[in-house]
Amino acid sequence: MIKQLPLGNNGPLTGRLGYGAMVLEGYYGASDDSTAVQALAKAIELGMLIDSADAYGAGHNESLAGQAIKAASSKPLVATKFGIVFDEGITGTELPTGWGFSLNINGTPEYAEKALDASLTRLGVDAVDLWYAHYPDPSVPVEETVGAMSKAVERGKVKYLGLSNVTEDDVRRAHAVHPISAVQYEYSLWRREAETELLPTLRELGIALVGWSPLGGGLLTGTVRSLDEGDFRHNNPRYSGDNLKLNRERFSPLIDIADSLHISPAQLALAWILHQGEDIFPIPGSRKPERLEENAAAVDVVLDQSVLDEISRIAAPGTAVGATLV
Ligand SMILES: NC(=O)c1ccc[n+]([C@@H]2O[C@H](COP(=O)([O-])OP(=O)(O)OC[C@H]3O[C@@H](n4cnc5c(N)ncnc54)[C@H](OP(=O)(O)O)[C@@H]3O)[C@@H](O)[C@H]2O)c1
Repeated sequence: MIKQLPLGNNGPLTGRLGYGAMVLEGYYGASDDSTAVQALAKAIELGMLIDSADAYGAGHNESLAGQAIKAASSKPLVATKFGIVFDEGITGTELPTGWGFSLNINGTPEYAEKALDASLTRLGVDAVDLWYAHYPDPSVPVEETVGAMSKAVERGKVKYLGLSNVTEDDVRRAHAVHPISAVQYEYSLWRREAETELLPTLRELGIALVGWSPLGGGLLTGTVRSLDEGDFRHNNPRYSGDNLKLNRERFSPLIDIADSLHISPAQLALAWILHQGEDIFPIPGSRKPERLEENAAAVDVVLDQSVLDEISRIAAPGTAVGATLV
């Protein structure tokens, strides 16, 4: 069982490292359901918060999590998200991502209620521990979306609220309606924008930062040399064209540091994040149960200040080539 800490001032005790279940939907390479459920079972055994979303695999990811929850001997903490519309029959607002495609977002109270009931059914639970709005809906004030989410807390269908991919202003406005426990935002050695304004705001308000893609979607592990056809990361400018090679080169000194410390590059990338504050919870994803053990061991890695400074210098903001997702 990994170390547990409170998720912000008003959240539950949570594993220092969570488990990002999105990779179980084949976005970064094929995944079979039986190994996927084993990976989820391993995450539960290790005491990791399970991070899912209704949009991952159009509901399939929550169903996989539901199978693992049902089989588990102890009840895990489960987070899911709503707001990215994946049913073509439902309308939403177009949100361009800057990655060559748009998302369809619906943050209306009516959709929130419907989406939550569907998530509860797929997960097979009475209440979602942490429920996020996946993206703010550009045509619905955040107060309205969070107001609807707070009604779900009152009804006992949700325990804690979270937001994802929001600005500091969104967070302040939402937190004034109902306490927000966690904000999910991309945070890793190759995406550090959260450090400038979002993280200070979260700290002022006592909200945890849950860092998505903490391994840069895999690049920071040093194992991604090329992508198979159909890999979703082709959409990510940091992996496309010459950028994959360029970024591998720019971040390769981190692999040398990991080698010198006898830890893996994945452990180095996660340990660096964990050293940025006890209010930051990375959620790495992996389809392989043995890699969950490896990643969990990052919680016990101690990096001294000179190493942290060297890592920070190598991966200074602006080092990565290619635009980031909204
Ligand atoms: N809120 C949002 O908008 C948002 C957006 C993106 C992601 N997320 C969440 O964040 C989670 C994590 O993000 P992510 O999956 O994009 O990226 P990530 O965790 O940074 O990287 C995942 C990739 O790293 C590889 N990997 C993991 N551990 C490894 C290890 N020890 N050694 C070598 N390779 C390793 C995995 O490959 P294998 O499977 O082959 O191990 C996988 O391809 C997602 O699952 C999702 O829950 C949220």
